[in-house]
Amino acid sequence: MNYAEAEKMLKGCGQEHVLAYWKKLGKKEREALLKQIATIEPKNVKYCREALAKGADVPDSSKGKAPKVAVLKGAALKKAVEAGEAELRAGRVAALLVAGGQGSRLGYDGPKGCFEIGPISNEPLFYFHARKILARSIRYGATIPFYVMTSEANNAATVQCFEENEYFGLDPKDVFFFTQGMWPGMTKEGKIILDEPGHVFMSPDGHGGLLAALKKSGALADMKKRGIKSVFFFQVDNPLVEIADPAFIGYHVQQKSEYSLKLCAKRDPFEKVGVPMQFGKSFRMVEYTEMTEEQCKRTTKDGKLYFLYGSPAIHVFDRAFLDREASKAMPLHLAFKKIPTVGADGKVVKPTEPNGYKFEKFIFDILPNAKTAAFLAFDQKDEFSPVKNAEGGDSPATCREDMQAKWRKWLAAAGVDVKPGVPVEIDPVYALDAEELASVGICL
Ligand code: UTP
Repeated sequence: MNYAEAEKMLKGCGQEHVLAYWKKLGKKEREALLKQIATIEPKNVKYCREALAKGADVPDSSKGKAPKVAVLKGAALKKAVEAGEAELRAGRVAALLVAGGQGSRLGYDGPKGCFEIGPISNEPLFYFHARKILARSIRYGATIPFYVMTSEANNAATVQCFEENEYFGLDPKDVFFFTQGMWPGMTKEGKIILDEPGHVFMSPDGHGGLLAALKKSGALADMKKRGIKSVFFFQVDNPLVEIADPAFIGYHVQQKSEYSLKLCAKRDPFEKVGVPMQFGKSFRMVEYTEMTEEQCKRTTKDGKLYFLYGSPAIHVFDRAFLDREASKAMPLHLAFKKIPTVGADGKVVKPTEPNGYKFEKFIFDILPNAKTAAFLAFDQKDEFSPVKNAEGGDSPATCREDMQAKWRKWLAAAGVDVKPGVPVEIDPVYALDAEELASVGICL
């Protein structure tokens, strides 16, 4: 894109101020700015401005009902596992990781997946994900291709981390990196914000940016070519996740579901997790901020929370459903943030109060479009302990504790008594679960 093209495009969407400092920019800055402008799509600018004009659109959730959530046990569990194992053996399962977030709460300088979490090995989060995928592929004798969504800001460092670690044992041809979109921040008035005279403030378009990115990058086409049917979706910050868990895959297949969600009982009525609700025949994820106090506290006759289950963002999608949704526009969520701006004198101003909007799409917004959905309960302690904050709850310390508590349980089941305080760690390729650990044995 050259200057004239950039100017024409920006004028067309009322954003010509983006070139206001052009004359003061050096050659390199000009090139970088033009490169950035080329990534801005006029239709997206229009879409953001429409979202701003509409304001935060909080849908009414007062008529929502708790969906039916399956708790698999005994014969039903066995059948689901068998169905999932058949899917895995047939090579119809892919793993899909969203790792494009900025991890601002953790405050780690680098992709969150490179954060060292192994209690003994200090291996990064990516290690545990990749090794689980490898172990599952070995167990079922079929490749589980691994699709990793990054952002422009962390793609190079992510790929480097995989390369330096020899893809943690995975075959590089089965690992597909793709980057999500970046959208410009805007003022209340719908003007794109420059955070430097030659630089537009841009941020990743949310985990819902996944759909457009899957299509644009060719990842969806790659899945189709490989005969993938079930796509296991997970987030980078949870090393406890049971990737491509046969029971979950199997239940999804049995239910002929397009979008399946693993749910866990909320730890308290006001826990900050999304709660899926049923509205007529369809479902929608209701954010905790949208729930009334009455809804949060409502109980059933036996004293349990009526809206008991929250979503830790562990899903299985039907690949054809993702394909169908990928070309549709998704709703935008607005976040009012403190964004550096350029003052009239061309100097950068760091605001003390929020002054601009970031735009994000959320993956669970496609739930109402699913013709069939399924919900499966699991025990939070076993599969969900995210690294969100630097300290306190959901931090590296709590996560390492939870990882070790799970492994200690496996070790105890295998007859090994670990003294309190002794650190433990198990490579997923050595043992993927308690049964495998008991069968391979432990060398002390
Ligand atoms: P979070 O909502 O926890 O955001 O992402 P985050 O960016 O990791 O952390 P904070 O909020 O800045 O502290 C949940 C998952 O969604 C991914 C993250 O990488 C994480 O796996 N994500 C989030 C994306 O892939 N892209 C995004 O634009 C946002």
